[in-house]
Amino acid sequence: MTSRKICVIGLGYIGLPTAALLANRNYDVHGVDVVQSTVDTINEGNIHIVEPELDTFVRAAVNSGKLKASLTPCVADVFIIAVPTPFHEGYVPNIDYVVSATKAIVPFVKENDIVILESTSPVGTTDKVEDVLKEEGVDTSKLFIAHCPERVLPGHIMRELVENDRIVGGTTPEATAKTVEFYNTFVSGEVLSTTARTAEMAKLTENSFRDTNIAFANELSILCDKFEIDVWELISLTNRHPRVNVLQPGAGVGGHCIAVDPWFIVHAGGDDAKIIRAAREVNTYKTEWSIEKIKNAALKFENENGKKAKVACMGLAFKPDIDDLREAPALYIAKTLEAQGIEVLAVEPNISSHKEFDIVNYEKAIDEADVVVYLVGHKEFKGIKIFGKEVIDFCGITN
Ligand SMILES: NC(=O)c1ccc[n+]([C@@H]2O[C@H](COP(=O)([O-])OP(=O)(O)OC[C@H]3O[C@@H](n4cnc5c(N)ncnc54)[C@H](O)[C@@H]3O)[C@@H](O)[C@H]2O)c1
Repeated sequence: MTSRKICVIGLGYIGLPTAALLANRNYDVHGVDVVQSTVDTINEGNIHIVEPELDTFVRAAVNSGKLKASLTPCVADVFIIAVPTPFHEGYVPNIDYVVSATKAIVPFVKENDIVILESTSPVGTTDKVEDVLKEEGVDTSKLFIAHCPERVLPGHIMRELVENDRIVGGTTPEATAKTVEFYNTFVSGEVLSTTARTAEMAKLTENSFRDTNIAFANELSILCDKFEIDVWELISLTNRHPRVNVLQPGAGVGGHCIAVDPWFIVHAGGDDAKIIRAAREVNTYKTEWSIEKIKNAALKFENENGKKAKVACMGLAFKPDIDDLREAPALYIAKTLEAQGIEVLAVEPNISSHKEFDIVNYEKAIDEADVVVYLVGHKEFKGIKIFGKEVIDFCGITN
């Protein structure tokens, strides 16, 4: 592997750890982001997101001169695109960031370069990257273009970036082989070869599989509530069957991935994506159902005490022990309650401030609240004893 200069476009939860890891593996890394404050923070050796060990990697990379951040790309041997892929109104996939990142590298790509799309993408996006480069006058027959979806777990990114198996799908067999060779220089997991379209669908399948299984657990939790059965006990009993593994229910499904990516399949698959669509709908419904439960508890308190209930929302993130609030059901629940006139005490131990809520610590929130609602199973909430207040636990932390 002769390529030494890497340009990483998008320095968020995926791009920055990747850039910092590669820089610590002796590559010269040029990181690009469109947000000036992100670029400045990284160039000072600091980080703008919460992820264990990332600060150490970034500081070492910047201090050694191996990682530099900028608003614009530069000439490199490998380009890695790790920009957001959200959806537009109506769950229509939005690949605008991928297209603009691709256009940004046009002046810098040269013969034999590898262009890797790491962003989770609808089937056909890697071909679209090639089309955009062609439209901009690049001779793509001289490039190696591939998709390598990222599948790390936030909170464990630095380890999983190295240890996870990876799937690489090029637009040509040569592109696949070149890209596999590159990942093999820093990944200890197996790097598996396929086509670009299969690699794209593989990532969407992984997240849809998770979403569908969580939907099953969420539907069970709603049914158990109706049947007056403890869902946590039920699941722990059924999981004693050697071939059953029901996942844990929650207040819905959030995040940049699982709550988003199944829609990429549904959008393209239409009526043939029946289960995947139903799973999304069940998980969305679980959040609305949770809001109704909380509102009913608040109303009951008001009827019994003649004053409005204060509700402690324990956790705003989309899952335990992270600061990521994207598509978070917990945040949506807190916002909806507040919009409907309920006083919310917002607790989120992983952030210090929020533009819409005053973040309070959990002791103060529990002390002041009339109804305590566990929305996210953060480690700080484990083992808390609450007396004389209504407690609603959507994440099983009290079990
Ligand atoms: N976060 C995860 O756990 C995770 C896991 C697997 C896959 N992914 C996928 O990886 C991709 C990136 O996700 P993320 O979590 O890192 O997103 P993010 O929002 O944390 O980071 C994306 C970064 O890209 C920057 N950006 C946007 N447009 C740009 C452009 N044209 N040029 C340069 N920078 C640009 C943004 O400012 C931001 O800093 C998405 O497709 C996501 O679905 C994320």
